[in-house]
Amino acid sequence: MTAPVRTDPTTVRVALDARSYDIVIGRGLVASLGARIEALRPRARVFIVTDRNIELHHLDAVEEALAESAIAASQLIVSPGEASKSFRVFEQVCEAVIAARIERGDLVIALGGGVIGDLAGFAAAAVRRGIDYVQVPTTLLAQVDSSVGGKTAINSARGKNLIGAFHQPILVVADTALLDTLPAREFRAGYAEVAKYGLLGDAAFFSWLEANWRDVFAAGKAPGSGAREHAIAVSCRAKAAIVGRDERETGDRALLNLGHTFGHALEAACGFSDRLLHGEAVSAGVALAFEFSARQGLLPAAEAARAVRHLAEVGLPTRPKDIAGDLPDADALMALMAQDKKVKRGMLTFILVRGIGAAFVEHGVDAVQVRAFLSEKLAER
Ligand SMILES: NC(=O)c1ccc[n+]([C@@H]2O[C@H](COP(=O)([O-])OP(=O)(O)OC[C@H]3O[C@@H](n4cnc5c(N)ncnc54)[C@H](O)[C@@H]3O)[C@@H](O)[C@H]2O)c1
Ligand SMILES: [Zn+2]
Repeated sequence: MTAPVRTDPTTVRVALDARSYDIVIGRGLVASLGARIEALRPRARVFIVTDRNIELHHLDAVEEALAESAIAASQLIVSPGEASKSFRVFEQVCEAVIAARIERGDLVIALGGGVIGDLAGFAAAAVRRGIDYVQVPTTLLAQVDSSVGGKTAINSARGKNLIGAFHQPILVVADTALLDTLPAREFRAGYAEVAKYGLLGDAAFFSWLEANWRDVFAAGKAPGSGAREHAIAVSCRAKAAIVGRDERETGDRALLNLGHTFGHALEAACGFSDRLLHGEAVSAGVALAFEFSARQGLLPAAEAARAVRHLAEVGLPTRPKDIAGDLPDADALMALMAQDKKVKRGMLTFILVRGIGAAFVEHGVDAVQVRAFLSEKLAER
């Protein structure tokens, strides 16, 4: 790989009293990782958790950066994919961290996408009742979403992310050059979460994305425009603000679930497989949330159509018929939604919208209307 062009990094602060930390965003930041860690935790030893795909492209550069600051590092490389968020792999990570004699005061580094961040973060939360960790997110989804906010988890046989902890990182280093090796489909899926921030609370950002999304996608080929870094920084600022108000999701943090109730049902219907990536499900879910809101008379149909148009323009699925293969019927999708841990006392909680940039939490959504809407959408297939 050629040396990445560097840009001045942007720092976004996640303000959580004693648990506050910086998200540093910029191209070529991995080179400064050792120095940043040394400044935060002088003489700490580190343990890197990553997956085989990331090892191939980026582990050497990370190890070099740590070596430059004379930081001793050991590592564990797990298989790529959601299956690694299991008890078995969690045990492997915990045992490897203990075997490497990482102690309190030392650090775990989660070098990877959301899978690695969730897995390594949860191991860091558990080993010795909590070791500090640093997120070095390598997917767009992880840079704008999963590496920020301190949710960590593995999966239960009964559902995703059911076993976990809130454990905030002490630093997030989002090097946008790492995304140059990310498969295009993964990048696009992560972009759904970027668009989500505009759609849920920042209409001006959404307009900016409509005008500049091509630069966000093409940044690997034409670094220097800063569009990618800008999109990531705005996304992180939005998430940091919400997490700062509601760390443990007792209120506002639920806004981040825009598109996720419909999305999770579709994702589950596809067996959480490569058939439908998380961000793709979110895209379809956001489109459905906008259309359902318009149906409820909350916003003009034309404004909902504008939101959907942008997602479709970047190549994301927005309708059930954009998803390859069979889908279950509306009743089965409703049952999947009811299983979702975001359901309280049998009532459907949805994030609805009064317009682009104006999402709100609605706890009492009428299941009958949702079902009717879904069967109509499924009939378009
Ligand atoms: N904790 C949270 O707040 C939160 C939020 C959203 C999602 N998540 C979790 O995140 C996970 C999904 O994360 P994801 O979309 O990043 O998927 P992922 O971690 O599985 O990464 C996607 C794929 O890209 C590969 N990859 C990663 N970085 C690469 C790079 N730079 N170059 C080449 N290949 C690379 C990975 O090996 C993997 O095959 C899910 O488990 C989800 O539950 C957590
Ligand atoms: Zn999501």
